[in-house]
Amino acid sequence: MENNKRPESMVRITTPELADAFIAEQVDLVRKQVGDKKVLLALSGGVDSSVVAALLIKAIGKQLVCVHVNHGLMRKGESEQVIEVFRNQLDANLIYIDATDRFLDLLAGVSEPEAKRKIIGGEFIKVFDEEARKLEGISFLAQGTIYPDIIESDGVKAHHNVGGLPEEMQFELVEPVKLLFKDEVRVVGKRLGLPSSMVDRQPFPGPGLGVRCLGAITRDRLNALREADAILREEFSNAGLTDKVWQFFTVVPDFRATGVKDGKRAYDWPVIIRAVNTVDAMTATVPEIDWAVLKKITDRILSEVPGVCRVLYELSPKPVATIEWE
Ligand code: XMP
Repeated sequence: MENNKRPESMVRITTPELADAFIAEQVDLVRKQVGDKKVLLALSGGVDSSVVAALLIKAIGKQLVCVHVNHGLMRKGESEQVIEVFRNQLDANLIYIDATDRFLDLLAGVSEPEAKRKIIGGEFIKVFDEEARKLEGISFLAQGTIYPDIIESDGVKAHHNVGGLPEEMQFELVEPVKLLFKDEVRVVGKRLGLPSSMVDRQPFPGPGLGVRCLGAITRDRLNALREADAILREEFSNAGLTDKVWQFFTVVPDFRATGVKDGKRAYDWPVIIRAVNTVDAMTATVPEIDWAVLKKITDRILSEVPGVCRVLYELSPKPVATIEWE
């Protein structure tokens, strides 16, 4: 499609001034496209959907209906941040759905990674579809498609996260950042007033913590994973590593190990720390993290997270390992 091709003359949006010009232009275009109709957006809280939401709120205010589905596999505080930023600060029309039980019930006993991904993606569409049907007068669907989605996957933004919407739900699309690269989307997001913790955040798989709670997901391991991840993020931030390490997270395997707690034998979960540096995620190296930082994280996870008795730091580069464990 012609309008899906970035013109060679288009300047890269690298400065606040260029972002302001882009925002003004898109606000105008969106208003012309949408008129007084309503637009629906699945707002995950990731960079792309958040920037699209902020842009559309500026353009059409409450004509935008954002739906945030919490699949129970978000990191600690993520859904809360979506509510705080969009409902409380930007006064958006935001529907929040806590679908944790639905997802975790469906995932119970499912251990094969691709089967888990399929369930999470399929259920996401179902929940979103159910919610959309309750709404009246929606004419458009907004999407955080960005240029790499178009180049790499025929413009199907949702392909690796959630699949596509059902046939009868094919609204006309509003895709204001579809010609931008990720770094440009971040510059635009900052000018729209989104916090750095939302705009500069590292990649997070659509299936979320679901692919880091290995094998069949259980609530106790998922909880341990989420708490350990929050400690890792806090300590990396305290140590000034957030800008120096490209992606970091924790993993909880589905096997236990022995330990000693309060003088008694324990049989608990290990937590693996995964940190990588990369340019394009095709290859990755493991950074040398200061021993004192790793020790502090280990001590905190062992004392603060129930059900955990070991912490490991992973040394495998990509290849041979992938970045994620599933
Ligand atoms: P791998 O594990 O393939 O990861 O080395 C490369 C990058 O892609 C991210 N990733 C995903 N992102 N849905 C996503 O949206 C997924 O299912 C998925 N799997 C991996 C991963 O976090 C890393 O940045």
